[in-house]
Amino acid sequence: MLETLQNFADVWPSPAPNRSFLDIADFSAETLREILANARAMKAARQGLPKGAPDPEQVLNGHAVAMIFEKASTRTRISFEVGIRQMGGQAVVMSAGDMQLGRGETISDTAKVLSRFADCIMIRANKHDDVEALAANASIPIINGLTDLSHPCQIMADLMTIEEHLGALSEQKLVWLGDCNNVARSTAEAAGILGMEMVLCTPPQHGPDAALLAMIEAGGWKVSHSNDPESAIVDASVVMTDTWISMGDEHESIERRHRFSPFQVDSTVMGDAREGAIFMHCLPAHRGEEVTAEVIDGPQSVVWDQAENRLHAQKAILRFCLNQ
Ligand code: CP
Ligand code: NVA
Repeated sequence: MLETLQNFADVWPSPAPNRSFLDIADFSAETLREILANARAMKAARQGLPKGAPDPEQVLNGHAVAMIFEKASTRTRISFEVGIRQMGGQAVVMSAGDMQLGRGETISDTAKVLSRFADCIMIRANKHDDVEALAANASIPIINGLTDLSHPCQIMADLMTIEEHLGALSEQKLVWLGDCNNVARSTAEAAGILGMEMVLCTPPQHGPDAALLAMIEAGGWKVSHSNDPESAIVDASVVMTDTWISMGDEHESIERRHRFSPFQVDSTVMGDAREGAIFMHCLPAHRGEEVTAEVIDGPQSVVWDQAENRLHAQKAILRFCLNQ
């Protein structure tokens, strides 16, 4: 049975004028669940339609979304642009280097100008502080499309994918193997808020920072930290990893590869997890580094569903931010 689309104007009768989506930790479990429910409903509502066909409900009709990219992207860029069009909105995509921002125009001035042209800004930025500055100076919602600190849009798609394959999040144990990077941090925030058990299993030099550890402790989250893949993997229903070298970390590559090699996800690791465990990766992947080809291209991998769900989850995030 199809879930009913939630009307965010009813759920939040007095919306804040500037409802940004900067970090998972900014939201309650109830809000995250509402967004996920809408994502599922919108996905179901367009089953069988060609990718470019309009959604039955044109909820972004009359809305323009500006997208700024300081870093490379395949999934985020295309899923946002196609999703905005499906909902009847207009997308304007810019590389930061093609904007005056890349020549030194301030974030504050950019925020004020774009607020006059667009109804929402999605930005992929090098520095998380810049996204916060954009949100502080804009009069329209800002969506974080990845920073050095976090990747909340990815995690909404990941949560949707876990529920599709395995059911209730509260019954899962998610084991993260590798770098405690932007994706890991947002995953930990989601696990904590939604009551999912998670182990951040990393080399000692690449574990959670003091701020994340403090957030885990203050929240009483079921999120722990380990340096031992063999013990961490026991009873894992979700095994997740990401590149060992994120955008911006390229300068450290040789040393990093050496430290991360015991954390590779191979078929032995998957065999030690819970029966029916799934493998997840936000992509792009590096076969032979953080994951073997056998695992990512094998039957336990759900990475293509995960990538597809970026589209549906982000459409629900846009509806939330624009109160539509
Ligand atoms: N996972 C993800 O954000 O992919 P892109 O870098 O291709 O957008
Ligand atoms: N951690 C990776 C994610 C890419 C989607 C990076 O920041 O490069």
